[in-house]
Amino acid sequence: SSQNNGSALQVASPASTTPELADIDWDNLGFSITPTDYMYIMKCSRDENFSKGELQRFGNIELSPSAGILNYGQGLFEGLKAYKRHDGNILLFRPEENALRMKMGAERICMPSPSVEQFVEAVKATVLANERWIPPPGKGSLYIRPLLMGSGAVLGVAPAPEYTFLIYVSPVGNYFKEGMAPINLVIETEMHRATPGGTGGVKTIGNYAAVLKAQSAAKAKGYSDVLYLDSVNKRYLEEVSSCNVFIVKGNLITTPAIKGTILPGITRKSIIDVAVSQGFQVEERHVCVDELLGADEVFCTGTAVVVSPVGSITHMGKRVTYGSDGVGRVSQQLYSALTSLQMGLSEDKMGWIVEL
Ligand code: COI
Repeated sequence: SSQNNGSALQVASPASTTPELADIDWDNLGFSITPTDYMYIMKCSRDENFSKGELQRFGNIELSPSAGILNYGQGLFEGLKAYKRHDGNILLFRPEENALRMKMGAERICMPSPSVEQFVEAVKATVLANERWIPPPGKGSLYIRPLLMGSGAVLGVAPAPEYTFLIYVSPVGNYFKEGMAPINLVIETEMHRATPGGTGGVKTIGNYAAVLKAQSAAKAKGYSDVLYLDSVNKRYLEEVSSCNVFIVKGNLITTPAIKGTILPGITRKSIIDVAVSQGFQVEERHVCVDELLGADEVFCTGTAVVVSPVGSITHMGKRVTYGSDGVGRVSQQLYSALTSLQMGLSEDKMGWIVEL
């Protein structure tokens, strides 16, 4: 049943027995929601710290119509993935980085947040409780979605009196319908996703509502997604709706996540480190539209999109293509290095993998 009976459940998770796989079509996972068995919930009041959370049956939650998140967008989310390795072990990728980013975001929009330990323990418990929903090796991953929200009632603009930390999961495959084939992006010249001093550098839910209009228009014209420019000069690249952007032009170059208008992606940061370890020079700096259009390769990074090669970019009606429909050499090399690490196919020299 998908009803939430509201009670805490004891979840038996003996490490030695692997539960039978859920009965779904594992060969055709996209990036969509599949309800699973359990979710994690932990609450606290405005001037408390989070203390005790619990697993509950996955299902709808109850909120006051005047909850802070519903009225004033006082909410954050995170995203990370669990992979099943051939030996049956479950691998998480840098979960403490998500915990730290959630703390930063919580600080920005006046919410208490779970400690790094609480966050990571809650992620582990939720993944183990939903183990039968982790795709078999090579079929995808279990996407983990932590939420932090002002769940208490408010009417005037103010921090909510109560907060809820919640984690749910869903098995997923590729984010873009193109799969690993290069995506086609269009540069948005009117609307912006973030402004200096705003919340673009943290994972507030509102950042994602802000991109829907341009994204829908782009998709209606056949593009995969939208590239945003900075809102001040309207000429420097920022990011795509759900991911960061890299260009290859001699060196590897990505936009600087320092002014608070670019989401500091964990995949972004990991790709920088992987690239440096492979001998690339990496620059974090502004990239103007002309430089982007003149690049040898362009790719996007994110937890959901992993490393997605860009096949074309359209700017003011002019379309520039990269490569000849294939995946660029550098994009391919970095994709392989990162994913073999995440899936446990190569040695974890960075110490990034948490094994369950
Ligand atoms: C992720 O990559 O996990 C994200 O948070 C992007 C999301 C908007 C799908």
